[in-house]
Amino acid sequence: MPEFDAMAKWYDFDYERRMRKDLPFYRECAAEGGNPVLELGAGTGRITAYLAKAGFDVTGVEISPVMLERGRARIARLRGVAGRAQLLQGDMASLDLRRRFGTILAPFRSFHHLHEIGRQLAALRGIRKRLKPDGVAVIDLVNPDLADLLAADGKLRVSYERKHPKRGTRIVQRFRVRSDLPRQIAYIDYVWDEYRGRRKVGSDTAPMRWRWFHRFEFEHLLARSGLRPIRICGDFNGGAYEADSEEMIFFAVRG
Ligand SMILES: C[S@@+](CC[C@H](N)C(=O)[O-])C[C@H]1O[C@@H](n2cnc3c(N)ncnc32)[C@H](O)[C@@H]1O
Repeated sequence: MPEFDAMAKWYDFDYERRMRKDLPFYRECAAEGGNPVLELGAGTGRITAYLAKAGFDVTGVEISPVMLERGRARIARLRGVAGRAQLLQGDMASLDLRRRFGTILAPFRSFHHLHEIGRQLAALRGIRKRLKPDGVAVIDLVNPDLADLLAADGKLRVSYERKHPKRGTRIVQRFRVRSDLPRQIAYIDYVWDEYRGRRKVGSDTAPMRWRWFHRFEFEHLLARSGLRPIRICGDFNGGAYEADSEEMIFFAVRG
């Protein structure tokens, strides 16, 4: 996935401590579904490492070799997880695994990177196949806010500006979204500019394509894949999904 290869450099800086308050939530999910745990779109191993440290037996599947390399380096640095965490390169739409899992997670909106219906169904059918009979799948999606997407359309926005703790530089991340409403695709261009004083000392860009889902559309996809939703949460505190929730987190079992 070239999009994430380009993002990998900034990924942990962007998300490690900010924004994502989801780790305890996924620990609860893993406790509900049980071992072993499969994470789809494991990225730099943020959740895989956390769950392994919490005592779970976790396999992460990640498509981007650059993200994977960072994830493997993180796992290698971990102490005391001895064999409980592994990261494999793979495509969640063509899972090549023999094991069955008690918990299958698709966290932090990784499912949005499956743009075509065929690939979405292939991923969900793969989840069903790899789920234990009493296992639970948890898929985190954005609750799409079309008014916000349209208001943002084509505008360059600053998502954050902060100091880099190691380099002492100031990083400004900007993004521009263009939405294709009939295709439910958002095209996002990310830019990271790095400044020392007033002088720009670096700049990186990453284009991203992102498919959004609506609630009942996703329920239909689950049904077509032999999965049954048991609840939908709207946040990482387990709150129920509402029209204005930020997240749309599906819990599904074999149907
Ligand atoms: C937003 S990141 C989430 C990473 C990690 N789960 C976390 O929460 O920090 C989404 C990840 O999904 C990966 N991804 C996208 N499409 C994928 C696919 N078809 N199969 C496996 N991984 C995929 C991307 O490369 C990226 O690393």
